[in-house]
Amino acid sequence: MIIDGKKIAEQLREKVKNNIDKISGSQKPGLTVILIGDHPASQIYVRNKEKFAKEVGINSEVLRFDKNITEQNLKDEIRKLNTNPNVHGILVQLPLPDHINQKDIIETIDPTKDVDGFHPVNVGNLSSGNDAMVPCTPLGCYYLIKQVLPNLSGLHAVVIGRSNINGKPMTQLLLKENCTVTIVHSKTKNIEEICKRADLIIAAVGKAKMVKKDWVKSDAVVIDVGINRLEVEGKNKIVGDVDFENLKDHVKGITPVPGGVGPMTIACLLENTLKAFNKISGNAPR
Ligand code: GUN
Repeated sequence: MIIDGKKIAEQLREKVKNNIDKISGSQKPGLTVILIGDHPASQIYVRNKEKFAKEVGINSEVLRFDKNITEQNLKDEIRKLNTNPNVHGILVQLPLPDHINQKDIIETIDPTKDVDGFHPVNVGNLSSGNDAMVPCTPLGCYYLIKQVLPNLSGLHAVVIGRSNINGKPMTQLLLKENCTVTIVHSKTKNIEEICKRADLIIAAVGKAKMVKKDWVKSDAVVIDVGINRLEVEGKNKIVGDVDFENLKDHVKGITPVPGGVGPMTIACLLENTLKAFNKISGNAPR
């Protein structure tokens, strides 16, 4: 079964839109995305975030800064957004230029407005099992997994990649669902053997088609977070971390690239923005 992330994301956006339409009063959720420099992929991601935010009724704004902005000036901009009552979500698009300390920037964002879920307060709350702002990519993966595996209890999940953006928060979400989780990464020995014992594989390593058919049990579910640009017969092609063509008829469920995790990430950002709005405006516990 191919898990249609595009369709499931559309349904989630519709749900967010319906909830925004129901908000009484004139204030709507506000999302500000900060984009620094001219990183090509970031330009595309940010444009899509803005477009979909507007579609569901979020007041969305992109603040663009030159790549030479100082860390101090960037922090001042974030602090202004922290106190701006019309802004409920703040997202600083990564990667940042080398002269800016990513950790310090993330820690400048008000945790309640941290729709990326990268602030240590949110990271800590998620790993303690408390209510938290959950990073959008693993949250999107989680929703896709639940479509095919409503009960995850006792399953062996293998998370490939240990990033703060995906691997680590993904692990926390799966633990909460009573999975047995193995994280594998670039220094892990025998990744292939570990994957062969997985009921569920989440691949986020950035290596085109790394996960092969003979690594995966036939009743497994495979979620592909990878976005790799390959040149095939002179044309640019986007492929995931999984050998989709050879796996699609072999497994219980698999996400395509594009059209799998990607659209879910943006839909979850919109959902997180609404969640931040509800907390700030007193409609949900803080
Ligand atoms: N760059 C790539 N993925 C992400 C993400 O999820 N959030 C932010 N802020 N930047 C990114």
